[in-house]
Amino acid sequence: MRVISAVVITLLLAVSVHAAMDDKSIKARTMPVGQVCVEGDACGAAAAPAGPQEPADIYSSACAACHGSGALGAPKLGDAAAWAPRIDKGIDTIIANAINGINSMPAMGACASCSEDDIAATVKYMAENSQ
Ligand code: HEC
Repeated sequence: MRVISAVVITLLLAVSVHAAMDDKSIKARTMPVGQVCVEGDACGAAAAPAGPQEPADIYSSACAACHGSGALGAPKLGDAAAWAPRIDKGIDTIIANAINGINSMPAMGACASCSEDDIAATVKYMAENSQ
């Protein structure tokens, strides 16, 4: 009788171990915790934006240091009096000055990741929000 129950217990153990080791459960337990996200792949909210950047984001990251505070005499965003004479020069002129630099205004606002189109869109954004 003791031999038989030992055999039964061994069999039961073997069956349960086997069940826990089937393919699916092994895969589930060995799945990577995080997935690798390669640039260019659309994998979640952290994915890099494709195409042009948002003017408001460029402004915050590249222009606000001077145009938020008025540092170096930069016309402040929202300061209509400071922007009116510049807007009067024509939007194309002040876009060109932002791209090429003028006095203490660095070329491209010193934004290394900006294209000329990004700068043009950001100048328009700044002008539109400063009238
Ligand atoms: C290091 C400080 C600094 C940064 C950063 C900066 N600017 Fe300027 N910006 C200035 C200053 C100073 C002036 C005023 C120049 C002048 O007229 O003497 C100016 C002027 C301008 C003008 C008016 C040009 C004109 O012809 O009147 C535009 C448009 C402009 N900036 C856009 C931008 C944009 C867009 C960015 C970000 C991509 C940026 N700036 C980043 C300092 C800065």
